[in-house]
Amino acid sequence: MFPQSTASPTPEEISIWIHDYGYIPVEPPLGVDLFSEIQRLKKEKNAVLLAHYYQDADIQDIADFVGDSLGLSQKAAETKADIIVFAGVHFMAETAKILNPTKKVLIPDINAGCSLSDSCPPAAFAAFKAKYPDHKVVSYINTSAAIKAMSDVIVTSSNAVPIVQALPADWKLIFAPDKNLGAYVIRKTGRDMVLWEGVCMVHTIFSHQKVRSLRAQYPDAELIAHPECEPALLEQADFIGSTTSLLNYVVQSPKLQFIVATEPGILHQMKQRAPHKELIQAPSEYSCSCNTCPHMKLNTLEKIYNALLFEAPEISLPSELIEAARRPIDKMLEMSRSLGLLRG
Ligand code: 13P
Ligand code: SF4
Repeated sequence: MFPQSTASPTPEEISIWIHDYGYIPVEPPLGVDLFSEIQRLKKEKNAVLLAHYYQDADIQDIADFVGDSLGLSQKAAETKADIIVFAGVHFMAETAKILNPTKKVLIPDINAGCSLSDSCPPAAFAAFKAKYPDHKVVSYINTSAAIKAMSDVIVTSSNAVPIVQALPADWKLIFAPDKNLGAYVIRKTGRDMVLWEGVCMVHTIFSHQKVRSLRAQYPDAELIAHPECEPALLEQADFIGSTTSLLNYVVQSPKLQFIVATEPGILHQMKQRAPHKELIQAPSEYSCSCNTCPHMKLNTLEKIYNALLFEAPEISLPSELIEAARRPIDKMLEMSRSLGLLRG
């Protein structure tokens, strides 16, 4: 994992490592307490560590803020830190950079991508969009900066329904890239939208049949699901929501057992905030742990430590792209505020 060892690499060595590995492959000093070293470096460099709920428990525990995509973008928009370390995936760190063009935004492993974002390549999407010249584009935040630049408004799983509902009724809409979230928004709002056919590799792996059997086995359990899951699973769900909404639901519901259909990283916060409740992971189609996001799990404490120490890998984007991608993100934040979905 960490084949290299050097006390003080040169900037050239660092850029070769990032090119070859996507992260800094330096073994931290033997016996170092990564928790206290990361805290020390954060303080020394005025850095903030933002982490998504799908990160490993130790990363969530050391982060300054843990949240869903909407909460994380609001935090990124508000931070006074000089350096943002994003323990999430590439599109999240890119969003933080778009909101903070003058700040240093670091991602512990540049290979942390997203199958959903990758399912929407910019050239193919531009050709798709050209077929609907009178449509506006609503894009899920799980997209590259290039797709955001082609969009009119960005949404997350927390605000997609109220934002689409609030858009002018005479707007014709394209929704990209998640076809399951898009279909869910259509069902909830009654708005007709043209869908891009992308999916998340994690949320489409749950077995509808096995979940049905599990429900029979645990008749008192509620099934809670993320809207990136397939319609056949969502149809069975008692509650559908973003990771933050699922967490709040478990805490507030009088029920004691929950079958959770999303990435299992969220169970850490659920267990902390509702220790007396039983959480059952929704089973995947195959006997594998493929409902764990392999992209999110590329981040480790070692890589976070190295990212802070060597200030790399850094997200950089052309200024014109930042400007074009920022407009629809700002629109999302403005609309979310006026719809009462964000504080401040
Ligand atoms: P939220 O953070 O909006 O719940 O989305 C989950 C997800 O898949 C992030 O990649
Ligand atoms: Fe992308 Fe799915 Fe992983 Fe989220 S869980 S980062 S949508 S692949």
